[in-house]
Amino acid sequence: MNRLLFQFYKKIAFKVDPEKAHDISLSFLEFIYKSFLGKIFHKKFVKNGIKQFDVLFDNPVGLAAGFDKNADYLNFITNIGFGFVEVGTLTPKAQAGNPRPRVFRLVKDEAIINHLGFNNKGIDYGISRIKEFNRNIPIGVNIGKNASTDVKDAFRDYEYCLRKAYSVADYITLNISSPNTENLRDLQKGEKISSFLHSIKTLHDNLKKVYKKHTPLVVKIAPDVTDEIIFDLSNLVNEYDIDGVICTNTTIDKSYLSDQFKALQGGLSGKPLFQKSNDVLTKISNVLGKERTIIGVGGIDSYESANEKFRLGANLLQLYTGLVYKGPKVIEDILRY
Ligand SMILES: Cc1cc2nc3c(=O)[nH]c(=O)nc-3n(C[C@H](O)[C@H](O)[C@H](O)COP(=O)(O)O)c2cc1C
Repeated sequence: MNRLLFQFYKKIAFKVDPEKAHDISLSFLEFIYKSFLGKIFHKKFVKNGIKQFDVLFDNPVGLAAGFDKNADYLNFITNIGFGFVEVGTLTPKAQAGNPRPRVFRLVKDEAIINHLGFNNKGIDYGISRIKEFNRNIPIGVNIGKNASTDVKDAFRDYEYCLRKAYSVADYITLNISSPNTENLRDLQKGEKISSFLHSIKTLHDNLKKVYKKHTPLVVKIAPDVTDEIIFDLSNLVNEYDIDGVICTNTTIDKSYLSDQFKALQGGLSGKPLFQKSNDVLTKISNVLGKERTIIGVGGIDSYESANEKFRLGANLLQLYTGLVYKGPKVIEDILRY
């Protein structure tokens, strides 16, 4: 989609409720990209030799989780130039998420606040969509727990999803950092993270034997964590031989925003998240072994912001909000094509 066309689309779409605009636009674009027109609009940007956790990537720029939660729009998202895409968060059972309205555009700040709460059609649905799809780039699967599952039993939900996704996904993300599921982020702390990663990694090792295939496992961390959590989590990732870390999810810190938005519930993404996610990225990359992959995400919307993430230690990148405000051209801008 060229820049002018996107500006025109944005004028109309930004008048509609964000969640509705997202669903309508993506259904339409998926229809177009599934048709014979898909071949005409198809974009592929190849930067040689990007291999991370034994997976080969055309380029290092990926689509972050949450944009296509159910793998409903794969024809569109895998054909606009991304090097990889991540679907989800998927949970064992389908769930409706939090009450609407739950997505808010902060246009002046080029940001979004979302309080979706893992609305999704369930892991079986998402996995069957990926299985049916003839993929041309790696597809990661982001997994989480149902809202009705107590946090002390969360590992069971992740184990369930890990089993379902293992043979299909190109990598799997443990999302323990969404601010929109009660107590989920407690999983990042102290004893909980240690026993959680221990049980998940034990299953992961078993699945590797069963399928004779290694599906990389990464952990997605919140930006609102103490240095102690960052240090402990990074050390556990090294100790349990987890393949990498995604830095970061959305933030609950709204101190930077005007009063009008401070009261909104949910996680903040986009430009105001950039510095906060960079701080976590820097600290993580100081502790993680060089053989681990760091995926930098949070506020990327240009060549400069992408480069800064690489400079701080990221091996791969992801974006969501930048795509909403700048359109698919942002991928070309970042890669300087
Ligand atoms: C509307 C919305 C929904 C999201 N849903 C998820 C999700 O389901 N799982 C997840 O791990 N992250 C989710 N995220 C977080 C993004 O994957 C990403 O970590 C965050 O938005 C920061 O990147 P950005 O500044 O480029 O948007 C969501 C973000 C937005 C804006």
